[in-house]
Amino acid sequence: MWQRKVKGFVLCSQRCLLQNLVAENGPTSIVAVNRTFTTLEQAEARERSRSVTSFYNQSAIDTAAEKPLVRLSPTTLLYSGKSPDGNHILRSAQYLHKELPVRVAHRIAAFRGLPFIVGCNPTILQVHELYIRAFHLLSEVAPINDFETEQKYSTLVKNLLDDHKDVVTMLAEGFKESRRHIKDEELVRKFLDNTLTSRLGIRMLAEHHLGLHHERPNYIGIINTQMQLRKVIENWIDFGKKLCEHKYGNAPHVKLKGHVNATFPYIQSPLDYILPELIKNAMRATMENNLDNLANVPDISITIANNDTDFIVRISDRGCGVPHMNVGKVFHYHFTTSGSCTDDRVTRGLLGEMMNADQQGPGGGPMHGFGFGLPTSRAYAEYLGGALTLKSMQGIGTDVYLRLRHIDGKQESFRI
Ligand SMILES: Nc1ncnc2c1ncn2[C@@H]1O[C@H](COP(=O)(O)OP(=O)(O)OP(=O)(O)O)[C@@H](O)[C@H]1O
Ligand SMILES: [Mg+2]
Repeated sequence: MWQRKVKGFVLCSQRCLLQNLVAENGPTSIVAVNRTFTTLEQAEARERSRSVTSFYNQSAIDTAAEKPLVRLSPTTLLYSGKSPDGNHILRSAQYLHKELPVRVAHRIAAFRGLPFIVGCNPTILQVHELYIRAFHLLSEVAPINDFETEQKYSTLVKNLLDDHKDVVTMLAEGFKESRRHIKDEELVRKFLDNTLTSRLGIRMLAEHHLGLHHERPNYIGIINTQMQLRKVIENWIDFGKKLCEHKYGNAPHVKLKGHVNATFPYIQSPLDYILPELIKNAMRATMENNLDNLANVPDISITIANNDTDFIVRISDRGCGVPHMNVGKVFHYHFTTSGSCTDDRVTRGLLGEMMNADQQGPGGGPMHGFGFGLPTSRAYAEYLGGALTLKSMQGIGTDVYLRLRHIDGKQESFRI
């Protein structure tokens, strides 16, 4: 973190310095600056100036950012065929080879559209740089016409997924740090919605391609052709209960009802982000509002409804609801009441640690207490052609409805 900030600060000041130089003397002044470095500093300086000039020298990025996206429907992924000679893998790689640089370039253009002072935040700048690096690496790959190149390409894609795994946490940190400079909340909301959902889409496409290399029963790439929604929910209930039990010595019992046997094809990875966020919120509200009776907290109820068009998950808790004054804010990025409770049964570490638990998902990394759970989940749900809504019954509890469209091809659901 410290290193990241220092590096970001260096980049930030270099960026400002270079901007002045370029404004005064034109781009050639960058070369002149490089010549003044001593031998010992040269390697590091070259590396740094390469990063910095990449903010300027980017006509390839400009060109790619103007191209439209080619968004695929889940049905296309599902039925794009599977040839015994592996040609479907080559075709998938060829699609990604064209598409990923365009998508990454669109993101870079969005970073450039941020207010200058926000774009200069060291953590945000570091994410911006990650995207620039990804663009160059992805664009340098030769056309993919054989399995050897495809293998190398898949390794590159896998490494990039790893490199970018903390991006959501970094953006949450970066925007938190630059909050006081942000005048236009709506601009930031749009930026985060677009960046996070585009990232989800890129990751789904990349993971689908990597998944095509492995034969797994009931899976085509990332699509689980027989997803049992109940099992996915139960998995995240266990996760939430473990956090609670570890910290409170108890956790709410969770009742599952409705269409508990519903089985259908779906992409599980976004659910693996959204469900734990919603379950964690419900459990936290239940525990925090029953601190005098932790041994006997009210149940949480989860109802599944399945129909031809979509499926709905309702999570109902008895955690006293969201206070009137906060109802309009819970879907704002960075709105959180975490840390506002002064009861020492909470401040002793109970929820503090729960907030910092490490959890993997499309969001990636620890993401607790930033006020990102609801807004990110809603952005993902809408990207997937669905919705996330919250109804508060102040004094009793909260109902959260997650509604998502089926991907079985009967109707257009969404495009990735
Ligand atoms: N089921 C709920 N009952 C009562 N309040 C809730 C509930 N769900 C969310 N909230 C309120 O909405 C706020 C924002 O929720 P959100 O999930 O976005 O962030 P968070 O839980 O505070 O942090 P993060 O999810 O990033 O770890 C919470 O801090 C809490 O005050
Ligand atoms: Mg939350």
